[in-house]
Amino acid sequence: MKFAPISDRLSGLGAAKWAIHVEALRRQQLGQPVVMLSIGEPDLPPPASVLDRAVDSMRSGRTRYAAGQGEQAALEAIAAHLTRRSGATVSTEEVLYTAGTQNGLCTCLMTLVQPGDEVLVPDPYYATYEGLVAASGATFVAVPTRPEDRFHVTAEAIERTITPNSQVLLLNTPSNPTGAVLSREEIDAIGEVCIAHDLWIVADEVYADMTYDAPFSSPFDRPQLRERTLAVSSISKSHALPGFRAGWVAAPAHVIERLVLVAEAMLFGSQPFIEDALVVALSTRHPEVDRLRAAFRERAVVLVEELGDAPHSRARMPEGGMFVMVDVRSTGLSGEQFAWRLLEEHGVGVMPGESFGSGGAGHVRIALTVDAPVLRDACTKIRTLAEQCAAGS
Ligand SMILES: Cc1ncc(COP(=O)(O)O)c(C=O)c1O
Repeated sequence: MKFAPISDRLSGLGAAKWAIHVEALRRQQLGQPVVMLSIGEPDLPPPASVLDRAVDSMRSGRTRYAAGQGEQAALEAIAAHLTRRSGATVSTEEVLYTAGTQNGLCTCLMTLVQPGDEVLVPDPYYATYEGLVAASGATFVAVPTRPEDRFHVTAEAIERTITPNSQVLLLNTPSNPTGAVLSREEIDAIGEVCIAHDLWIVADEVYADMTYDAPFSSPFDRPQLRERTLAVSSISKSHALPGFRAGWVAAPAHVIERLVLVAEAMLFGSQPFIEDALVVALSTRHPEVDRLRAAFRERAVVLVEELGDAPHSRARMPEGGMFVMVDVRSTGLSGEQFAWRLLEEHGVGVMPGESFGSGGAGHVRIALTVDAPVLRDACTKIRTLAEQCAAGS
């Protein structure tokens, strides 16, 4: 008996990236004092009314099979949410309910690409993207960005990596790990390249509600890009509900028709009571959503106050999201070496920048998921270690 090549393609793309996080978690579970700054799980409570709806709905018997594209009320709530955002009408035919962003992205790539095709991904990128592309069988092509450009990907850099096999641009704004938020002008310039080379744009918008000062912009909201954009998101981050696995893909109706076929092959519908809860999440503006964004922004300010001018652990203010990249290149250590020492010597768990592609090399990614005093203390440890390393000890 033999296996299909998919699991071979995926092996080595998952666990290794998270090794430091897993070790930090293990130590914490053993009762050792560890500050966990390694994973993007919002630490504030979700809106109570969304939880109440899930419970009430489950108790009222909404535990049967749901429609493959999604329950009508959930599709309407997502369409209305996107219509409010974009200003242009989004219909329910243009929406697929998914089990979170990850499931939505996977459904998109399985539908759009195959072996031989290339998916272009700005580097640094979210840690699961390599696996997503590998699962589809397509080839992952990193598009370089530079710390000096605040990790903003440019239309020129994308154009330089395009070949006749390029099929999809996988865009993530606000970005995990870099916090880069693309402006409407940048998206339009990138969009021109995608039009010229007839590329799909798969837009991961899971942090759309978490821009700090600059407004959020989406290629899906740009009329000239709408026909080639698949916008993917969820309530995992915005509403602090990652365990609900509740998200969506918005795309032209004929694209959704194809996505539904793939989604039904994988899941055949999601949990109706969770879909009901998503309706409550999206139908009003919950103060918790604004509170989360404000908390991440305030903590980013604290971190940048503490580390901004540190010569060997420099941090720039992110433009959105829930992470900050700290530049430790001048310590002479890789991000991975630095992160291991930080855990071993100071009990602080962070992610090595290398886990997010070669563009993250020499950085560590800090999740803003603890209160300011804890964060200040962790920053002192980061700064101390960086100075020690730079001094050669
Ligand atoms: C950029 C990015 N995309 C997707 C996801 C997964 O989101 P979801 O919980 O909606 O599947 C995450 C989670 O950390 C993320 O950071």
